[in-house]
Amino acid sequence: MFYISIVVVLIFIVVVLKFLTKPSPKSLKSRHVVITGGSSGIGKAVAVLAARKGANVTIIARNIEKLEAAKKEIESQTANQIVTTISVDVSDKEAIEEKILEIEKSVGPVFMLVNCAGLAICGKLEEMTKKDINQLINVNLLGTIYPIQALLPRFKERQEGIVVLTGSVVSLMGLFGYSIYSSCKFALRGLAESLYQELKLYNVSVTLALPPDTDTPGFETENKSKPKETKLLSESGGLLAPEAVAQKLMDDALRGHFFSHVGLEGFIVTTLCIGMSPFCSLVDVAIEATLLGPLRLIAAFYVKHFEGIIFKCSMEKKNNQKKEE
Ligand SMILES: NC(=O)c1ccc[n+]([C@@H]2O[C@H](COP(=O)([O-])OP(=O)(O)OC[C@H]3O[C@@H](n4cnc5c(N)ncnc54)[C@H](OP(=O)(O)O)[C@@H]3O)[C@@H](O)[C@H]2O)c1
Repeated sequence: MFYISIVVVLIFIVVVLKFLTKPSPKSLKSRHVVITGGSSGIGKAVAVLAARKGANVTIIARNIEKLEAAKKEIESQTANQIVTTISVDVSDKEAIEEKILEIEKSVGPVFMLVNCAGLAICGKLEEMTKKDINQLINVNLLGTIYPIQALLPRFKERQEGIVVLTGSVVSLMGLFGYSIYSSCKFALRGLAESLYQELKLYNVSVTLALPPDTDTPGFETENKSKPKETKLLSESGGLLAPEAVAQKLMDDALRGHFFSHVGLEGFIVTTLCIGMSPFCSLVDVAIEATLLGPLRLIAAFYVKHFEGIIFKCSMEKKNNQKKEE
């Protein structure tokens, strides 16, 4: 009873300290927010939120019709801010630099860059074509690096800014069928951690968003290429609404949090993989240090559970092959 009381009191102290040390969010009123991939899914939901917060919004994607439709939707959420569209491929370094320069001249200095353009193509590594591999790397990795590179000198000069990179839960853990996609999303973690150190002195914050499965047009397309194993492994996490993911991303980015994860599963995976990542408060470090050991035991159970699913699928395939022969 004595020990339980101590644990309850400690939890209470941690919750109070966490609440008291929560940084206040930055304001987006009359600021310029640029969102790549802002014509669909998570990016569009982020754009709508930015507009509701009083920002001038620029969305970047390739398809002009989709951009125009998204623009109307975002405009319906604004008082009288500017909503602009740019049709460009984020993996075209020169084009993106030129467009960002133009948009700063016409709309104003960019305060927040949210990199949401991305896609997933699933499949076992030997099944991935050269075209799939190049597209995944070009859009998810280079398409995040180039817009950031275009804006960095300006952010540094102005001594302010917010950079958001959209990774995924598979930025922290590999999963059957995601070899190339996960490689790109892991790379974004390295990029975000390095950038965090490069930019801290300049008052520019970096947030790595780690969305779980989210109900978007991109997720629908991704499902078409998913092997059975991948579907079974990821289905336990459920499916979130893009608005919920965008809300968490925005809240974490405006408070300067390094990771933006959603739900209990996101918290567990992020805590497990925290490693040398930046932290916002010593309270967080204390919570992570306490939970790491026990969480590793739970993770070990999941690793074996996942291996079991993959083994079962392989046996099923073998049996089906035998029946056909
Ligand atoms: N949905 C999920 O379950 C999930 C989970 C974890 C992480 N994520 C990540 O979250 C981000 C958004 O995903 P989503 O599901 O919202 O995708 P989505 O609905 O397919 O939207 C993707 C957006 O990116 C744009 N885009 C794609 N390729 C582009 C390119 N080369 N140049 C410029 N724009 C490009 C698309 O427009 P155009 O095609 O017109 O260019 C669209 O606006 C991605 O980075 C994805 O990897 C998604």
